[in-house]
Amino acid sequence: MKSTIILAIESSCDETSASVCVDGKILSNYIANQSVHEQYGGVVPELASRAHLQNIVPVVDIALADAHCNLSDISAIAFTQAPGLIGSLLVGTQFAKSLALALDKPLIAVHHMQAHVLANLIGDNIPNFPFLCLTVSGGHTQIVLAKSALDLQVIGETIDDAAGEAFDKTAKLLGLPYPGGPLIDKYAQLGNPLAFKFAEPQIPELNFSFSGLKTSVLYFLQKQDEKFIANNLNNLCASIQHTIIQILLKKLRKAVQLTGVNEVCIAGGVSANSGLRNALTEMGVINGWKTFIPKFEYCTDNAAMIAITAYYKYLANQFTELDVSPSARAEW
Ligand code: KG4
Ligand code: ZN
Repeated sequence: MKSTIILAIESSCDETSASVCVDGKILSNYIANQSVHEQYGGVVPELASRAHLQNIVPVVDIALADAHCNLSDISAIAFTQAPGLIGSLLVGTQFAKSLALALDKPLIAVHHMQAHVLANLIGDNIPNFPFLCLTVSGGHTQIVLAKSALDLQVIGETIDDAAGEAFDKTAKLLGLPYPGGPLIDKYAQLGNPLAFKFAEPQIPELNFSFSGLKTSVLYFLQKQDEKFIANNLNNLCASIQHTIIQILLKKLRKAVQLTGVNEVCIAGGVSANSGLRNALTEMGVINGWKTFIPKFEYCTDNAAMIAITAYYKYLANQFTELDVSPSARAEW
């Protein structure tokens, strides 16, 4: 039987990435980061689209070369259609559409949040359906019930900030550069998670709230002297990280109780957090859950997750037309 070879492109925010997937196996996943945003303390949309324009051709070339593949071998071209920064999405969408038209290949539109969940289907140790996934990124915080690869249901989500925003905004209060999440993770490893106590919100059902944590850290810091942060950075990072992890895992435990599903995954940029990875593994052992954590390169934005999602869509004949448009906010 002929192999199914997907070329996938991800450009929803500030990473330009391309991946080649053959029969559900990832052969390459090249990611170009955009350092241009560091000096601004956040992603500047216009600069992101311009960097995508510069990166996209070399990134796709590298992904094809890494997979020892030619454009003529490709069965279908996949791209992130939503959600994300509209200018960034447009670059990937237009590139994928042009390639599909020029090569006369089918086109597959992928939802970025669905792809984060399905990153857990990359590799040999993968969950069985149904499974639960805590998807935690810079823009989203969701608990998803995956009944099959293409039947995902959001059963809980944030009512304000995302978990990644909670990391990045509190890091900013500590004077750390953007994105602060990985730095909080680094300093937290040297600190005491119980050194300081920050308020945990009481939100009903499986929903989350993180805006109160930012305010609680702000008010706490306003009461301290100017040397306090420098003298307590590790303990502050460890305590903030601990609070975020507690908020996330309490709701995940509740989701397992409510659904009776005990195959549990995490996904999204914040799932790269070492404290969250350790806490989930520990919780799995204590509660008898099977836990799954994607490799680091599949946690933050990457095209391999777009490729694996597109592979399942290909098998289900879910193609899109050439008049498809990207969307900054799309429900699923
Ligand atoms: O999934 P992602 O790469 O992009 C979005 O779709 O948003 O997630 C980015 C988020 C940022 O908020 C970043 O600070 C956070 O993931 N992040 C981390 C870590 N690595 C990335 N947060 C905590 N600890 C980390 N190690
Ligand atoms: Zn993402």
